[in-house]
Amino acid sequence: MHKQSPIGIFDSGLGGISVLSEIHSFLPKEDLLFLGDSKYNPYGTKTKAEITERCIAICDWFMAQDVKAIVIACNTATSACVDVLRKRYPIDIIGMEPALKVACEIAPDQKIAVWATNYTLKEKKFANLMHRFDQDYTILRVPCPKLVELVEKDALDQSALIQETLEGYLAQSQAADSIVLGCTHFVFYRKMLENLVSKDVHIVDGNAGTARHCKDVLAAKDLLNDAGGNIEFHNTLPEKIALSQKLLNELEEEL
Ligand code: DGL
Repeated sequence: MHKQSPIGIFDSGLGGISVLSEIHSFLPKEDLLFLGDSKYNPYGTKTKAEITERCIAICDWFMAQDVKAIVIACNTATSACVDVLRKRYPIDIIGMEPALKVACEIAPDQKIAVWATNYTLKEKKFANLMHRFDQDYTILRVPCPKLVELVEKDALDQSALIQETLEGYLAQSQAADSIVLGCTHFVFYRKMLENLVSKDVHIVDGNAGTARHCKDVLAAKDLLNDAGGNIEFHNTLPEKIALSQKLLNELEEEL
């Protein structure tokens, strides 16, 4: 493992491409190896043991590719097993959690809706995070499984269906002041969501924070690359590779 080794990034499917995109724009000289586990998607309905087994299989594969760090571009997988992975592998493992702290820092006394998978919202890790803030903020948990499914099915251009789905989750969010996108699949809906809510509503995700953290971790070990920039997609359902590239292109057009 050396400076020119790639960074491994994985998700239960295609949601993590939103994290990949952010890391690529923040660290354009890094080679990025993305693995989507679409064959086993969703993770949000699985048990801790099932998710951990998948994550170990993926990280074993990354180690065989000689990656220099692994980004778990999935809040659900992080909740399930980041500690297990950190103990098992000798490289940095960067996890994600819903960016509740970022939302709380916007203004005091807010109502904040956290959109995530059922698994993330039920895990102890999220309960601990929530209890740091729930004395001062009203925090609502909104599981949004359909938003994962529609990305995996390449249905983001079905505007009527997307609008109806987002409106359903907005109704459960009870006119929140901020919405935290606590699942990496949901970042693909950011623009559509912005068009459905008033401009005073803050929509927050953890992708930029994760990209910054990734840079800091590599810089601290003098592992930043200045000669790469390649992106390679892999997926446990190889037919999802074309959709992976399409999703990345769409995000890059939005920038
Ligand atoms: N993208 C994943 C996350 O950030 C979860 C999607 C799923 O597999 O349920 O939580």
